[in-house]
Amino acid sequence: MVEAVQDAGVVVTGAGGGIGAALARRFAAEGARVVVNDLDAGRAKAVADEIGGIAVPGDASAIVTEARNALGGTVDVYCANAGIGSGGGEAAEEEVWAQAWDVNVMAHVRAARALLPAWLERGEGRFVSTVSAAGLLTMIGAAPYSVTKHGAYAFAEWLSLTYRHRGLKVHAICPQGVRTDMLTASGSAGELVLAPTAIDPEDVADALFKGIEEDRFLILPHPEVAAYYEARATEPDRWLTSMNHLQQKWEAAK
Ligand SMILES: NC(=O)c1ccc[n+]([C@@H]2O[C@H](COP(=O)([O-])OP(=O)(O)OC[C@H]3O[C@@H](n4cnc5c(N)ncnc54)[C@H](O)[C@@H]3O)[C@@H](O)[C@H]2O)c1
Repeated sequence: MVEAVQDAGVVVTGAGGGIGAALARRFAAEGARVVVNDLDAGRAKAVADEIGGIAVPGDASAIVTEARNALGGTVDVYCANAGIGSGGGEAAEEEVWAQAWDVNVMAHVRAARALLPAWLERGEGRFVSTVSAAGLLTMIGAAPYSVTKHGAYAFAEWLSLTYRHRGLKVHAICPQGVRTDMLTASGSAGELVLAPTAIDPEDVADALFKGIEEDRFLILPHPEVAAYYEARATEPDRWLTSMNHLQQKWEAAK
């Protein structure tokens, strides 16, 4: 049991399946009261019923007030988990780029805007961002996803460094492949890069809870990502060349 989570009011967005459902199940198992959000109302209800939680369906951008009311007035933990996999490159439609910004970044900003006043007044709150290793590195074949996940990571960092001394805890979860519908939909690039080392959604929940216990910002369910992140920072051209080799391998296999 993680003490910080017992009886806490927790919101998980995009929790009708995949990583969000695993986070919701784990929070419930640890004794939290959980709001299960998803765009898909049926899937949100199914997970909420299973864990004794409360379904609040709808767009993750606009559910804080309803979720707070459902939890009796206080949100202790907010998991900004809903995300979309938007593939393509510079030629991806404007609408694809806009939707990726909206769900992968602005939903986090809007939630923080709604949550921070009460958290700062209380002197505590916990914001969990499901980013991706693509937010630290990049994902071949998926520019809107990579760029917006970098944005999500940057926003989580900004929140943490700005409100750390005022009681806000922030965690950024950055996994590589996780066996969910999103991985299945990621096509041949996901097959090449993510599938071989993919983990289960429950492993992501385990990594988050370890991170909560150890009070760590950066959560790496695939620990090897730390070395890739270091290589990117210290030897950018070498790192880009090796990523380009991966790109070429993908092109040859297509
Ligand atoms: N699966 C992976 O390999 C992987 C790796 C790294 C990071 N992630 C991230 O993990 C998070 C969860 O992804 P997943 O793999 O579980 O995907 P998933 O597609 O299985 O689940 C995402 C859920 O979010 C919901 N959703 C989408 N847009 C929404 C919105 N605007 N409001 C509310 N709900 C919405 C979907 O209906 C779906 O149930 C995402 O942010 C994703 O980018 C996934």
